[in-house]
This record gives sequence, C-alpha cells and structure tokens, in this order.
Amino acid sequence: MSHPDVPAEDGAVPASAVTDRSAHLAGAENAVLRCDELLAGYLPGVNILNGADLYVGPGELVGIIGPNGAGKSTLLKSMFGLVNIRSGTVTLKGEDITNMKAHDLVSRGVGYVPQTNNVFPSLTIEENLEMGAFQMPKRFKERFEFVCDIFPALGERRKQRAGSLSGGERQMVAMARALMTEPSVLLLDEPSAGLSPKLQDLVFIQTQQINKAGVTIIMVEQNARRCLQICHRGYVLDQGRNAYMASGRELINDPKVIELYLGTLARA
Ligand SMILES: Nc1ncnc2c1ncn2[C@@H]1O[C@H](COP(=O)(O)OP(=O)(O)OP(=O)(O)O)[C@@H](O)[C@H]1O
Ligand SMILES: [Mg+2]
Repeated sequence: MSHPDVPAEDGAVPASAVTDRSAHLAGAENAVLRCDELLAGYLPGVNILNGADLYVGPGELVGIIGPNGAGKSTLLKSMFGLVNIRSGTVTLKGEDITNMKAHDLVSRGVGYVPQTNNVFPSLTIEENLEMGAFQMPKRFKERFEFVCDIFPALGERRKQRAGSLSGGERQMVAMARALMTEPSVLLLDEPSAGLSPKLQDLVFIQTQQINKAGVTIIMVEQNARRCLQICHRGYVLDQGRNAYMASGRELINDPKVIELYLGTLARA
C-alpha cells in the first residue's frame, strides 16, 4: 500500500517520508517483531489503524512518535492482543501472532507496559514483581536481581506499597514487572509521561540500559525529541498510518518532521 497523500504542500518530498512500503519490506526481512498493513479499531466500522507498518530488528530500540490520537497506543495494544486486528498481520520471529492473547505473547517473550494503570497499587513492589514473574516463579530471585541492577530503588523499598510511590517510582515498578518474564521484545507506552524533566531523563537512560542489556524495545513517546535522540530508528505515526520512518538522527533533523511534528510536541 502506498501513501501518496502524506507530503507535502510545497511539492517537496522529504527523504524520510513514507511513500511506499519498499523500505519497510526490505528492513523487516529479519525483524524480531513486525506489523504489516494493520487495520484495527474499537468501534464497528471505525478504523484507528489505517495500514500501519512497523518492524523492529534484533537488539534495536525503535521509537514511535506522533500527535495525540494518532493511534500510537492502539498500535502497541494491537501487537499485544488488546485490540482486535481487522486486517493485516503481526509476526514474531517468523510466527504469525495476529490477535494472539496477551498471556500467550508473554510466554513467547513479549513484554508490555501500558500507558496508564500499570501497577497494582495495593500490592508492595515485591508483590508487583512476583505478579510479573508468575509464569516462572523459580527464576524470581535471579530476575529480581536483574531489575534491581537497573532500578536500585526498587530493591531498597521492596516492602513499600506501589500505591504510595511517586509517579516516577511507579513507572520503574511497571517496567521492572514487564522485565521479570525476561522478554526478548519490550513494548513501552509513554514511559516518561507525567514525570518531572529530571525523572524523564532517568527513564530514557534506564530504557537505553535495558536495551543495551539485550532487550529489543519499541517505545511510544510524547517527549519526541528525547525519544528520537536515543532510538536507533523512529516512526512518525499520523492518523493510524506511517508518515515517516528513518533513523532517529534523520528524523530529528528533517525539516518537515520538525515543522509538522516536533514543533508542537514536547521540546526537550
Ligand atoms: N477504548 C477505546 N474505545 C474507543 N476509542 C478509543 C479507545 N481507545 C482509544 N480510542 C480512540 O482511538 C484513537 C487513537 O487513540 P490512541 O490512544 O491510540 O492514540 P495515541 O496516539 O496513543 O494518543 P496519545 O498521544 O494521546 O496517547 C483516538 O481517537 C481515541 O479516542
Ligand atoms: Mg497513547
């Protein structure tokens, strides 16, 4: 499917604009996780995803930015079996996982951290992490040590109820919980949302650390500039379809992307 309607009033087609699927098809050949031409939505007859393509290669950190309501969370949810895919495919290491349920995806190595309500507030930090590891209780200790290396505060405060934590600390619990199952691919929905600039920075550093520890990551972010600075490759999603796909560096320097998407989104 081509998207000839994406750019541009002045007739100039920016290098990174998505005008056909060839870059996706070439890049996605060895992908860990890929989405092809997804149509999905919540209400009958209304598609929120309108042909979105996405792939992530082994060890890659991929960012998704775009305006509010573009369908970024819907795209992550569709990969994790939380939104019904009407057409198109999601493939994990060559296996068709389209519309597969979340618990089956967890056992196949996919982790997901939702945008909101991502901890059990009445449970302690440790209990939240035990919930994360319920499919592999024997490995709890080893995984707990792994996540405490990345988030030392969690080990120190393991007996504290998640509901009494700050927004930043809760986000760490949510990310740590998803890491307890040792995912090979982690889907993060706006991990820096609602945090102070200092804590936002910490979340980006921790996300990079997780990626460097070998976890492939797809990250949706409202802090678009910061996200593009750390990601290997980025997507701009607009109205449920790809508007741009390029390296983070190319996107952050693309005049059209700056004008259309970075000017109004959070300035880092
Ligand atoms: N559960 C739902 N039922 C019906 N419509 C929904 C539901 N969730 C999201 N939508 C609609 O789908 C569209 C895309 O929403 P989505 O949450 O995917 O956007 P987003 O790009 O993540 O936005 P934001 O940057 O605000 O998080 C919006 O128009 C939204 O109102
Ligand atoms: Mg969202």
